[in-house]
Amino acid sequence: MTRGNTEHGARTAPLGVFDSGLGGLTVVRALRARLPAESIVYLGDTARVPYGSRSAATVRRYAVGCAKLLARRGVKAIVVACNTVSAVALETLRAELDLPVSGVILPGARAAVAAARGRKVCVLATVGTVASGAYTRAVAALSSRTEVMGIPTPLLVGLAEEGWTEGEVPRLVVRRYLEPLVRDRVADEARGDAAASARVGCVVLGCTHFPLFRTFIEEEAARALGEPVPVVDSATAAAEDVADFLAARELAAPGTAQGKLELCVTDVPVAFERVARSFLGEAVGTVEQVDL
Ligand code: DGL
Repeated sequence: MTRGNTEHGARTAPLGVFDSGLGGLTVVRALRARLPAESIVYLGDTARVPYGSRSAATVRRYAVGCAKLLARRGVKAIVVACNTVSAVALETLRAELDLPVSGVILPGARAAVAAARGRKVCVLATVGTVASGAYTRAVAALSSRTEVMGIPTPLLVGLAEEGWTEGEVPRLVVRRYLEPLVRDRVADEARGDAAASARVGCVVLGCTHFPLFRTFIEEEAARALGEPVPVVDSATAAAEDVADFLAARELAAPGTAQGKLELCVTDVPVAFERVARSFLGEAVGTVEQVDL
């Protein structure tokens, strides 16, 4: 977050959190674990999911619409719970809104650099996030010796929105997407290249839909690389970032009572209600349908 609305009274206002669909609920879950007193208004733009295959200009336009709806609801800050939006639209949102705006890529990159310890960072993300080069830039700004390889894994978004997060289908999709890791390892071994910097040191869940596949990704990455690697969740790292920001700006919610959670979507909420519980890890109350 770069700018702060430090108006008196803003502490009790909710945080506004949005994503293209259900994925951002993994960030809500992390926020509620780290900052239980914060109230949250969550918006899933389910009428227009996925964002990851759209142009940067379209994603920016959608993101501004989502953020403005949350601003009209009186939120004290916007948490962009979407890597694709964080990759291409943060500056636009900061320019368009008179509110602090935080994203998931910088915190995710920080956690990745720490976990990789000089080895390569492998980012699993949408086509848009990989094409933007946002993780590569964020990691390069933190560590000039850490390489980044991005693997676009768009089918996982659809599987998550459908609630297909268990069984052989997602496992095989993950295995197929991780084939470049096997190819690189075999090529390195054939060349006798044992340099630590050439090896993958961590895998980043670079899309907020992906924590639901964490176990498959851990297991399949270990299989592909021939050794276990840490898996970094940008949702947890982002919640930590929001906690720091709120404390620094004296915007944290007072008291210890559990904050409220309001859920909104842009399409009929039936599918959302069905799948949201597994993302959120708690019961889902009423879901409101809104129009941007
Ligand atoms: N969950 C989003 C992300 O973190 C977007 C997925 C999509 O809509 O394609 O990138």
